[in-house]
Amino acid sequence: MSDISFELARNSLNEFAKTIEDCLVGSLPRPDGMEAQVIEAMRYALMAGGKRLRPFLVMQSASLFDVDLKLARRVAVAVEYIHTYSLIHDDLPAMDDDDMRRGKPSVHRQFDEATAILAGDALLTNAFEILADERTHEDAHVRCELITALAKAAGAIGMVGGQMIDLKAENQNLHEKQIKRMQQMKTGALIVFSCEAGAILAKVKDERRKALIGYAGDIGLAFQIIDDLLDVESSSDDIGKTAGKDARAGKATLVSLMGVKEAKQAAEAVIDDAINQLKLFDAKADILRSLALFVLHRAH
Ligand code: IPE
Ligand code: IPE
Ligand code: MG
Ligand code: MG
Ligand code: MG
Repeated sequence: MSDISFELARNSLNEFAKTIEDCLVGSLPRPDGMEAQVIEAMRYALMAGGKRLRPFLVMQSASLFDVDLKLARRVAVAVEYIHTYSLIHDDLPAMDDDDMRRGKPSVHRQFDEATAILAGDALLTNAFEILADERTHEDAHVRCELITALAKAAGAIGMVGGQMIDLKAENQNLHEKQIKRMQQMKTGALIVFSCEAGAILAKVKDERRKALIGYAGDIGLAFQIIDDLLDVESSSDDIGKTAGKDARAGKATLVSLMGVKEAKQAAEAVIDDAINQLKLFDAKADILRSLALFVLHRAH
């Protein structure tokens, strides 16, 4: 295991990112009539690039259990729709107010605020339409389980709840535990769903599913710590969004609480834990192990 490097996952993720784009656009409604603008904005946001980490996790977790990848791809698209909606809304003036996303003008700058709100709403809604479709899984119980798990992950006890805390915590001194909880909600919950999705599709309920959930919780936390570090240490060009914004907005992050060095160490410790959670999987989980290292080493 020690000879695994982050390049394995990085290369695999880069290859995957190219192949999922057609599916992302292919699942959009066809533009027609006066509503076409909202679909154009959805397409714009989806096609602006992005690492596609969450869909990749869906595919990797599905592979662990030999799930038909055609089914997994539909869940991967649904997750990326939710993630993309969250970014569109996160950038709105009422939230983080960022003009740049994925290296391009954010949706409300390219179109307008109302269109950005609606494009986010439609991506969120369409994600559930994709999951509810029989093509996602022949067993309606599995479809319901996917829908329930994604709704919980994206909603008020998950991502949306975390975003609420993030905004309320501006210019407040949160403790380490409070910051980690917020990060697990706003970023971790969707990443946990992405990893659990493979087990749901395969109807696996044993300790392997628990291990994946544990792994994903750690990955989600570390992913946000690194996002906060990149905000401080990288340029806007490198990260494709405005750098240095968190300090200006008074965001509560581990970096603001403990400084760059300690925040990095905290992320490293969490990644060690993530890899340890995968002990009961064989070499099939090597890409997930490598991905944990990639989360630490990523430059954008
Ligand atoms: C950005 O997510 C928002 C966070 C949850 C930190 P990503 O860094 O995965 O964004 P993209 O999809 O690659 O643009
Ligand atoms: C966003 O966290 C988490 C979401 C659920 C969108 P950030 O606000 O730090 O994400 P970026 O830095 O704008 O991508
Ligand atoms: Mg934010
Ligand atoms: Mg933001
Ligand atoms: Mg950020």
